Formats: sequence, structure tokens, C-alpha cells
Amino acid sequence: MDLSEIRKDYSREQLDVNSIHPDPLQQFTHWLQQAIEAGNPEPTAMNLATVNEQGQPACRMVLLKGVEQGCFHFFTNYESRKSRDLQAHPQAALCFWWPELERQVRVEGAVQKLSQEASYAYYRNRPLPSRLGAWASPQSQVIPSREALEALYKDTENRFEATEEVPLPPHWGGFQLRPHTLEFWQGRPSRLHDRIRYRQENGAWIRERLAP
Ligand SMILES: Cc1cc2nc3c(=O)[nH]c(=O)nc-3n(C[C@H](O)[C@H](O)[C@H](O)COP(=O)(O)O)c2cc1C
Repeated sequence: MDLSEIRKDYSREQLDVNSIHPDPLQQFTHWLQQAIEAGNPEPTAMNLATVNEQGQPACRMVLLKGVEQGCFHFFTNYESRKSRDLQAHPQAALCFWWPELERQVRVEGAVQKLSQEASYAYYRNRPLPSRLGAWASPQSQVIPSREALEALYKDTENRFEATEEVPLPPHWGGFQLRPHTLEFWQGRPSRLHDRIRYRQENGAWIRERLAP
């Protein structure tokens, strides 16, 4: 397989410091909306990068579940690898890739846990199997087999069989990332892509063009 021959030229659109929205969160929701309309199969999927106590970075996909009051929300197991990383270093980076629109968005900022109320407000609206899965799965831990995982799920089903509302697991909830930097990338011909970065300075957003 010759990977060196796989390449694509980008030519759909362009991006300019003056025409991009002055508020990066508004610009983000505009692009997200367009990614949804363009039929991206997982428009809210984002790569979340964290770093552990030893400085080892790790990344994985998670789903964006809201953009509220300037923050990006996602949900996970608080005992997972990512959550342990975030406890050691409460900073993270997100990256979205919307190939239909030839666009990438990068986001960096400080992370903190959402309140239990906010986590529960999201949790209680998830489908029942997802709510049970959050109780059953010791995310990021080594488990002996697929059967062992399914047995944990069955135990959880039995445990909450007679319960009307499944409670929020103490080890599960949301995080919010408050960005200090965002970058919007639009693919252009000849690898001369448009990159507009926003960074915060004295409470205001500064927009700058970066070389591709
Ligand atoms: C498209 C996609 C979306 C995902 N969304 C989430 C999510 O919202 N929350 C989550 O905990 N894991 C999600 N996962 C699973 C994570 O990528 C990862 O396997 C898991 O969270 C464990 O990561 P960790 O061991 O680094 O903590 C998703 C995976 C994919 C491929």
C-alpha cells in the first residue's frame, strides 16, 4: 500500500480575519451547524487531548454535548484515564474535523468538572442502556473478558430493575472546557490553507492569521 500517493486538494471555501465572527463561540456554533447540515456522520465528535502526571499526552474521541456560557461540555467516567489526566493537569485540547466542509477547529483551555446537577440533567435524558452502561463499565480498567463486562451489565440491570429512575453514578459526569485559544482551519488549494486563531487578551478575543 503506497500511502504517499494519497492526497486531496481543498478548494471549497475561504476564511478571512475580517469576515469571521468576532466571537469564536458564535463562529464555532455556525460551523457546527453547517457540519450537521452537510451530513457529517458524527458532527459533535471531537478528539480530546490530555496529559498525565509524567507529561505523557493521550487523545481519544468524545462527544460534545453542549456549548454553554462560553464552555464546551462532555461527559465521561470520572475514574477513566482521561479523568485521571485532567485531575493531574486540568487543561486540555479539543480537535474537530469536518471533511465534508474541509474544516478543522482546534480548542484549548482549562477544564473543570460540571456540577452534579448539570451532570444529572444530562444523564437522566440518556437512553436506559447508556445509563446502565455508565454504572456497569469500569472505564479504562483491564477486565478479564467480554463476558465479564456483559455480566457486570446484567448485574446492573438486575440492581435497578425495580427502580423508577436510575441515579447518577458517583463516578460519572461532565466536564467543561473554557477556551483561551481557538483556531479555525479552512482547507485551500496548494496547501495554502486559511488559519484564523482567536486568543484571549485582557478579556477580549484577538483574531490573527497563522501560516499554514
Ligand atoms: C465517536 C466516539 C465518541 C465517543 N464519545 C465518548 C464520550 O462522549 N465519552 C466517553 O467517555 N467516551 C467516549 N468515547 C470512547 C473514548 O474514545 C474512549 O475509548 C474512552 O472514553 C476511554 O478513554 P480513556 O481511557 O482515555 O479515558 C467515544 C469514542 C468514539 C469513537
